[in-house]
Amino acid sequence: MEKPILSAEAVEALLTWYAQSKRDLPWRHTRDPYCIWISEIMLQQTRVEAVKPYYARFLAACPNVRALAELPEEQLLKLWEGLGYYSRARNLQRAASVVLAEHNGSMPADYNALLKLPGIGEYTAGAIASIAFGIPVPAIDGNVLRVLSRVQASYEDVMRADVKAKWREALLQVIPQDAGSFTQSLIELGATVCVPNGEPKCHACPLFAECEAAKLEIADALPVRGSKKPRRIEERTVLLIRDGDRTVLRKRPPKGLLAGLFELPHVEGHLAKEAIPSLVRGLGFEPLRVERLEDSKHIFSHIEWHMIAYSVRIAPEFDGWHKESGMLLVPNGELHASYAIPSAFAAYKKHLSFGNASEKPTQT
Ligand code: ADE
Repeated sequence: MEKPILSAEAVEALLTWYAQSKRDLPWRHTRDPYCIWISEIMLQQTRVEAVKPYYARFLAACPNVRALAELPEEQLLKLWEGLGYYSRARNLQRAASVVLAEHNGSMPADYNALLKLPGIGEYTAGAIASIAFGIPVPAIDGNVLRVLSRVQASYEDVMRADVKAKWREALLQVIPQDAGSFTQSLIELGATVCVPNGEPKCHACPLFAECEAAKLEIADALPVRGSKKPRRIEERTVLLIRDGDRTVLRKRPPKGLLAGLFELPHVEGHLAKEAIPSLVRGLGFEPLRVERLEDSKHIFSHIEWHMIAYSVRIAPEFDGWHKESGMLLVPNGELHASYAIPSAFAAYKKHLSFGNASEKPTQT
């Protein structure tokens, strides 16, 4: 028989380490599958510290599957505002409707049924199944890939499906009775000890005795990730168009990047200041004054927006704007409470007046 990926002693050491050293995180106080699901979706691509307040707010507003399925879209997007990757929120809601229709409103205690839900892939299905239900299935995220490739001193490309599948099989053979703690212990080890940037803290690692990368002193070279396609760079000119009391927002189309969110109007390219008045007139507003704001950059998974921006004061009494253009003139007092504006515009949100001096926009 092939050597197991982790010995029984290593698994034991890992679980003991986890019991003693785990961070006290809100989603570790529950085994409610709904809460575990929400936490795991939020934690994809997002730091633990950033997730904490969103997790609490989301569960307060939306405590169960039915509440999520019935939440109006604008409220859903508002709850997600600043977390990014908004398709996660839409998929949560789609999946909630399926759980309501097909599973009586309870998350199914079955890996394959979980896997069928929108937005739930192998990792998330494994995490919910093991953490909430104790089902012995692995959950392999970036943290776990790093730990495993170091323990094995493996130079195989962790982005390859066959490499992941091989480790999934190998982990399946060593999952202990407490499958949930095993899942979380590997994630925790990757997040706090076997860290991605800088020196891993090998002296504190429960797997040190059998870590091949530590022995060979090659941990910092692992894991190997195949080269990704470079992101497409898009230049944008963003307009912060205001009269004294109102700001112009635009609702994004229902499909694609940042679907359905509200944004500051913007156009392709980097336009000179002289080009702005006619552009704004073309939108049906009468520009009075144009000022250049700071440049900013936002990185999406496949695209980078390189933004320049202008603040444009418009005449308040002018009523020629094109309502059918999808533009909204939003009273400043309503901006913060009612409109989900994505973090791509974070640099410019600080210039928005929210109509109440004591109220700060969410920093993301
Ligand atoms: N990242 C993904 N899942 C996590 C969890 N359950 N705890 C901490 N970080 C995580």
